[in-house]
Amino acid sequence: MTRQLPPMLERCTQFTLAEEARDSGLYPFFKPISQSAGAYVYIDGRKLSMFGSNNYLGLANDPRMAEAAQQAASRYGTSCSGSRFMNGTLDLHEELEQQLADFVQKEAALCFTTGYQTNLGAISALVQRGDHLIVDKFDHASIMDGVFLAQGMKKSINLHRFRHNDMDDLEKVLRKLPVNEAKMIIVDGVFSMEGDIALLPQLREVADRYNAAIYLDEAHALGVVGESGRGTGEHWGGRYDLADLVMCTFSKSFGSIGGFLAGDHAVIDYVKHFARPLIFSASMPPANIAAAMTALKIIREDTSLVASLQRNAKLLREGFLSYGFDVGTTETAIVPLIIGDNEKTFLLWRHAYEQGIYVNPVISPAVPPSRALLRTSCMAVHTPDQIEHAVDVLASEAKRLGIIH
Ligand SMILES: Cc1ncc(COP(=O)(O)O)c(C=O)c1O
Repeated sequence: MTRQLPPMLERCTQFTLAEEARDSGLYPFFKPISQSAGAYVYIDGRKLSMFGSNNYLGLANDPRMAEAAQQAASRYGTSCSGSRFMNGTLDLHEELEQQLADFVQKEAALCFTTGYQTNLGAISALVQRGDHLIVDKFDHASIMDGVFLAQGMKKSINLHRFRHNDMDDLEKVLRKLPVNEAKMIIVDGVFSMEGDIALLPQLREVADRYNAAIYLDEAHALGVVGESGRGTGEHWGGRYDLADLVMCTFSKSFGSIGGFLAGDHAVIDYVKHFARPLIFSASMPPANIAAAMTALKIIREDTSLVASLQRNAKLLREGFLSYGFDVGTTETAIVPLIIGDNEKTFLLWRHAYEQGIYVNPVISPAVPPSRALLRTSCMAVHTPDQIEHAVDVLASEAKRLGIIH
């Protein structure tokens, strides 16, 4: 018996694109992984080489992390059952916050339950009516959603977007804004789809000319760039003062889940009392705090993981370049294969998947419409042979599809 749905739900039945893609074997999303081990995953009983993960240092599968998570769950339970504001703050949260502030060389830090919530909470808390937020066009969706939440809460927040990593365009935007109105520039340190690095020193110079704050999303930078993995500030010569605020997630190099914002004491204390996603959502669970803390300890004590990630990133990037792939201007563990055409992107994805290589196809709106790409990323635990094999598999099919020549 088919039920007549109310109009708001009925319209969902008009969405058939996903079903059509599933029928044609070109649906790459929601693949259930049944086991993960190092740089391999198992899906549908097959072993695949993982080149589509943000587990950059391989720590999500490190036994030290699981051990710490288990111990924390035994001591504190499996949930905090409340928000940070009320009953959901543990001594572990505060300990981790102190360690993080020290790591990114800021006065204070504040943990949220996800990286996404960190951007939503921090951005929406900081702005007031009439303020200006200036974002790079390639910024992550969670930054945009933070702006949208701010607009929803306070209306009349002014959003300005500048061309990706283009300091002249940024300056053009800033020049038009009233001198005495509050402004904040928000950028990814490492851009999540393209793997290139924000031009932080130039950004600081421009920001200073217009009295604007800089908010830096280090989701793909901490544990990845800088000689000891301390991120974009370290990459640019140990200049941790370049950004006023730093945020990061624990779901990538830190092998956990959660996020944090770091900056001056007064700013962090303010966000603590005004960030709705912090106040009205349960806090980061004990096991995840302990895992993030363990990851931070490992990153600080042993820079060999960061070094092997950087070595592997170079191998992957140079491998693709040697075949003539367009990899944009990446310098990091994210290596995009820029294809432009959606269909070819999905066909190349399917071939790689069938050959045991896991990568992610990315199309509009996650990237501009003409910039469909396969996002590949490497990990510290890949072997050179594994990288070479993945590059060869992708290159031979890309040649057949006319993506490279
Ligand atoms: C640049 C950037 N910021 C924030 C986030 C959100 O982090 P999380 O997935 O941990 O919520 C992501 C996640 O993909 C990201 O790539």
